[in-house]
Amino acid sequence: MTVVEAFAPAKINLTLHVTGRRADGYHLLDSLVVFADVGDRVSVRLAGVSRLRVTGPMAAGVPVGPDNLVLRAVALTGTTAEISLEKHLPAAAGIGGGSSDAAATLRALARMRGQPVPEGVLTLGADVPVCMLARAARMCGIGEEVSAVAGLPLLHAVLINPRVPVPTPAVFRRLTCRDNPPMPDELPAWAGAGDLVRWLAEQRNDLQDPAIAEQPVIAQVIERLGVTPGCQLARMSGSGATCFGLYDDAETASSAASRLAAEFPGWWIRSARLS
Ligand code: C5P
Repeated sequence: MTVVEAFAPAKINLTLHVTGRRADGYHLLDSLVVFADVGDRVSVRLAGVSRLRVTGPMAAGVPVGPDNLVLRAVALTGTTAEISLEKHLPAAAGIGGGSSDAAATLRALARMRGQPVPEGVLTLGADVPVCMLARAARMCGIGEEVSAVAGLPLLHAVLINPRVPVPTPAVFRRLTCRDNPPMPDELPAWAGAGDLVRWLAEQRNDLQDPAIAEQPVIAQVIERLGVTPGCQLARMSGSGATCFGLYDDAETASSAASRLAAEFPGWWIRSARLS
């Protein structure tokens, strides 16, 4: 195998409960995570020297030096490789772009070399373990406890990023840790998408208010999503600024996306399936 390609889907936190803070400053999370059918693409080729080339509509400003998570992922495997990254997801956007790229690189290298993914993926970032799974999961601890969630109904969504980068540490710094209840120990067996959305409406993203304090435009995004016809729930993902709206079917989501794209031409807006 000379070149192996892998898809790096956008990660969406349907819920994100911050349940505590460790002595080292990292926060304990309880999050229901799903993945979208929109994302980046990586192609990996073993080479004498590691190198990263970034193309695609979101390539501008992506650093290609050794600090890029993709090259750090290659280094973690103890090999060297040339990576082409086709960037479709905005960066610093709460949808795990860099983490998903790193996870896709690790999956491609493991397939190519017939070797398991190395230990220590958490050192690349708290979202990398869940991105290794790349399907519906519950994420706890600081991100290292990942368990697959079976039977999650397919969701139809609009994803919106108002093109303001939100640095995750800044959002966590604004968080005042109260005694936030975690999600229930046992997740319910949802009867269908409507049932799941009603349950989601009772849960939270505890980083949403701190992120709005950092970037007030996020409140506008949630409000605009919430008034599009058919929107069942509008919430922010991760530490923002990307928000998602949930709809009954693909057609309603797609017409909401078109309507919003016409109104806000500078924003990144996609309709997507989440699973
Ligand atoms: O692990 P990652 O590099 O994605 O984390 C970025 C920053 O987000 C950390 O430096 C930390 O400030 C914050 N964070 C946190 N608790 C987590 C994950 C991230 O406080 N569980």
